[in-house]
Amino acid sequence: MQSVGIPFFHTPGNHDDAAHFPFHETDPTQPTVIELGQWCIILLNSAQPKRIDGKIADAQLQQLTQLLAQQHDRHVLIACHHHPFAMQSAWIDQHKLKNSSDLLETIQPFSNVKAIVCGHVHQDSINTWQGVEFLSTPSTCIQFKPRSDKFALDEEHPGYRYICLKANGELETQVYRLPTSQRMSSSEVLGYD
Ligand SMILES: [Fe+2]
Repeated sequence: MQSVGIPFFHTPGNHDDAAHFPFHETDPTQPTVIELGQWCIILLNSAQPKRIDGKIADAQLQQLTQLLAQQHDRHVLIACHHHPFAMQSAWIDQHKLKNSSDLLETIQPFSNVKAIVCGHVHQDSINTWQGVEFLSTPSTCIQFKPRSDKFALDEEHPGYRYICLKANGELETQVYRLPTSQRMSSSEVLGYD
């Protein structure tokens, strides 16, 4: 990412060890706040040590409440690794954000929250809840088959989600897929946790 020469931020996933992952010297137990004109992006850490599923700590949710109040004049996009909404895929949904109801309760009083973005599910999805868009993004690695109850790979190519944040609070988003797919070996795939 540094070689691309554009600003970037990251938040830990279930494969990351926060003790060894670079977070631009920010504390991964604290929300990261990025102010961009009329928008504010808040990164939350949903990773739990040695666990596949996710949880946002109570302290972070309390900080989120304060941040949303402080940023009341900005539109807000929240990002965390784990998916707050079920993907209708039993095997991946057992690894979702387990306290998503706490997150929804936290954001519910704030009309400035426009979207929540996650990874983890290796597939594209959009859900809307009370005017908030929930977006998942494809993986830059292997893709998981949507709505599959058992682990299964999808034929889609690696991809990413582009999001354009408009000053009026609207957002435009599109998923782009790479033209070629590099397949991992079965041992690498089965190593997914
Ligand atoms: Fe993950």
